[in-house]
Amino acid sequence: MTASTKDILSAAIRSIPDYPKPGIIFRDITTLLGDAQAFRLAVDELVKPYEGLGVDKIAGMEARGFILGGAMAHQLSAGFVPIRKKGKLPYRTVSMAYALEYGTDEMEIHVDAVKPGEKVILCDDLIATGGTAVGAVQLLRQIGAEVVSACFVIDLPDLGGRKKLEALGVEVRVLAEFSGH
Ligand code: PRP
Ligand code: MG
Repeated sequence: MTASTKDILSAAIRSIPDYPKPGIIFRDITTLLGDAQAFRLAVDELVKPYEGLGVDKIAGMEARGFILGGAMAHQLSAGFVPIRKKGKLPYRTVSMAYALEYGTDEMEIHVDAVKPGEKVILCDDLIATGGTAVGAVQLLRQIGAEVVSACFVIDLPDLGGRKKLEALGVEVRVLAEFSGH
């Protein structure tokens, strides 16, 4: 990715101080999603490393991972797998409790969402502490997926999530990094 591409994407992300609580800077991708050029650029950059790899599915985490993951799946001619917050999926599920930057939650995946050995890429808007993404990798592996990579528009490196995923043997790709919370 060129420096100018990174600058365009970083500039399209809105930073909101003291949300959801004092001292936190919220990195808001709705401005990027609403900007036709920036949204196209972000999805193009997210899919670029995976073109031609024979990716079977993109797994997106509720809620913001659905928007980017759906677009990625379409562009890669791959399937899409939703990882949802508890109680939303109608068929048999496996579930996982996970730690969030601001509390805890539980996520689920359909037991038959991937076939054993299918190549899956995980996608979300942002990785912070990594609690969400680590839980998602565990769910995907539990149902037999080969998680080949995980990608995010934003990494908050100070919170260490990327390292946790890499320690699990998952390659991580990000488009923009912001220091501080
Ligand atoms: C945010 C973000 C990531 C997650 C990252 O989602 O969209 O999914 O937090 O944090 P972590 O790396 O510390 O786990 P959130 O759960 O706030 O909800 P939403 O996507 O449903 O809005
Ligand atoms: Mg989220």
